[in-house]
Amino acid sequence: MSKNKIVIANWKMKLTLAESKKLAQDVKEKFTNFSEDEVVICPNFLSICEVNNIIQGSTIGLGAQDVFWEELGAYSGEVSASMLKEAGCKYVIIGHSERRKFLMENYEMIHKELKAVLAVENMVPIVCIGENWDERKTDRRDYVLFEQLQQALTGIEVKDNQEIIVAYEPIWAIGSGTAIEPAEADYAHKIIRLTLNDMFGEDVVENNFKIIYGGSINKDNVVGFNGLDNIDGLLVGGASLNPDEFLHVANKILKK
Ligand code: PGA
Repeated sequence: MSKNKIVIANWKMKLTLAESKKLAQDVKEKFTNFSEDEVVICPNFLSICEVNNIIQGSTIGLGAQDVFWEELGAYSGEVSASMLKEAGCKYVIIGHSERRKFLMENYEMIHKELKAVLAVENMVPIVCIGENWDERKTDRRDYVLFEQLQQALTGIEVKDNQEIIVAYEPIWAIGSGTAIEPAEADYAHKIIRLTLNDMFGEDVVENNFKIIYGGSINKDNVVGFNGLDNIDGLLVGGASLNPDEFLHVANKILKK
């Protein structure tokens, strides 16, 4: 069964405030033909409020690239889910592999962040999972995906109106310029879906989860990711920084 797809831009730490504002303006002007929250942009923390002002009156959704698990308190440098909501965000990327690599985030932290986001009404976590090259080469991918899902999601209760997005991002494909073969992504998504079915039941997975792919998607390879049964959308890094290329990617996935 097909569900509404979503295309999410992860701007990472690649733009200044001025550049983020410019890109938000460009996206607002070019993306006039999409439904509410079909396209989501995730600027850095510093740019969120300004970008939120710019995209008012458009259908573009707003997300953050990280969140802390506590609500309020003495946690220097951190930002909570309700603060992000106040600044206009509905979506939050959690556990991106770059944070796991450079900030030592682990799946216990990711689990707490996920709970914190779900505790705020109407907020949607985007949980990143994915194997590294060594794990893939030695045929451990399926187990790694299973384990990461268990660690991030065990004990989570999904309410009727809640949504969780799982982003399958093979670490070796991110920023490499080469996406994985669409058929391989589709297979990995199937493993993720079956694992989630086991944990939450098929109905909940069908109604409350999306499974999206991320890793070197661009205007040339996106066509292969269109129309695959198990892929509910994309998380786009580098190619989302060029508004025309990002529009091409979004059109390919979201327009029939
Ligand atoms: P990329 O990044 O498209 O530049 O590979 C994707 C991501 O890390 O979310």
